[in-house]
Amino acid sequence: MKILITGNMGYIGPSVVDYLRNSYPGVTLVGLDMGYFAHCLTASDIFPEHRIDLQYFADIRRLSPDILQNIDAIIHLAAISNDPMGNTYEKVTSDVNYRSSVNLARLAKEAGVKKFVFASSCSSYGFAEGEPRKEDSPLNPLTAYARSKVDTEKGVKELASDDFVVTCLRFATACGMSERLRLDLVVNDFVAGAVAAKEITILSDGTPWRPLIHINDMARAMQWAISREPSNGGAFLAINAGSDEWNYQVRDLAEAVAKVIPAVHVSINKHAEPDKRSYRVDFGLFKKLAPNHQPQIDLMEAIAGLKEGLERMNFRDSNFRDSHFMRLKVLSNLREKGMLNSELEWQAAGNSPHHKYAM
Ligand SMILES: NC(=O)c1ccc[n+]([C@@H]2O[C@H](COP(=O)([O-])OP(=O)(O)OC[C@H]3O[C@@H](n4cnc5c(N)ncnc54)[C@H](O)[C@@H]3O)[C@@H](O)[C@H]2O)c1
Repeated sequence: MKILITGNMGYIGPSVVDYLRNSYPGVTLVGLDMGYFAHCLTASDIFPEHRIDLQYFADIRRLSPDILQNIDAIIHLAAISNDPMGNTYEKVTSDVNYRSSVNLARLAKEAGVKKFVFASSCSSYGFAEGEPRKEDSPLNPLTAYARSKVDTEKGVKELASDDFVVTCLRFATACGMSERLRLDLVVNDFVAGAVAAKEITILSDGTPWRPLIHINDMARAMQWAISREPSNGGAFLAINAGSDEWNYQVRDLAEAVAKVIPAVHVSINKHAEPDKRSYRVDFGLFKKLAPNHQPQIDLMEAIAGLKEGLERMNFRDSNFRDSHFMRLKVLSNLREKGMLNSELEWQAAGNSPHHKYAM
């Protein structure tokens, strides 16, 4: 079996690759990434891609179909991966996250790939008061990022068949320690503040609902999705991936962090404008269809893992919201230095769209 993981050199990718490597020691794992954050290693003594059999440094927008020869399954993570980047690079977000994703799926189907897993997002539900959202609840994407996920789901649905099984995992917000940690995610941000400065600053009034999932549990869900047969959920499935126990309000998350890390001061912005992103999500379908791949890590364990990882890094930067732990900040720095152009293409790359690096 040969599995292609796009966007493998980001925050979630290294966990997914590690999980697949342990689950399927003999399979060929192929990575494809633009490498925007390749240098942002955290608490890692070793290049995480040592687990990969073949790594392409390539732009998903200029995909050569050759890459897809003999691939059995694709886990598609490559994306401009949050709202701040999506707001700044709206066209790139649509090109990378939507157009290139549908194109990848189309080429994959033509090449005989059997399973396609897309990392979608619960942010597609937008501001959703009342009952937890189910898969058939109305979508309300409020940002370029969320719209790109909704559009891709629609685009890849058309392609699904019994020979090309498509699973869109609508993930809750990720958290947990990674070899390429991001701190622009709510729980990670709170733990970083607590470790660096004994301070948690909630930017909202603390009331928004935010379902969460640990990155290792995301990997578990992806393993389920690449092995899913159409008899379990249909040739096309868009499914909420997380667990009902992990629907938290932001202030509860801060309090949980303060329990694990003592003497932390929590400040809530009582005058904040109501957060536009607030949704509770129903994960019942995922529990029903994937009983053996349910999330296993709980919030306290996730917080403890982050604390331990940050301490190992000797993390002290109370100004981390302005650092290279923020995805948008990294892109802005690369732009300022002239390394990336306004389309977020590498300026120094030669004419060949793919820099192949076999390991
Ligand atoms: N982190 C979360 O909370 C979360 C939640 C739901 C869904 N997701 C989705 O999971 C996926 C991975 O998220 P992440 O947190 O690891 O993000 P990340 O930004 O850390 O990683 C994304 C990777 O995609 C690569 N990439 C971007 N544009 C590319 C292009 N044109 N060609 C090739 N590679 C490109 C980047 O270099 C990066 O390594 C994304 O699709 C994201 O939308 C993430």
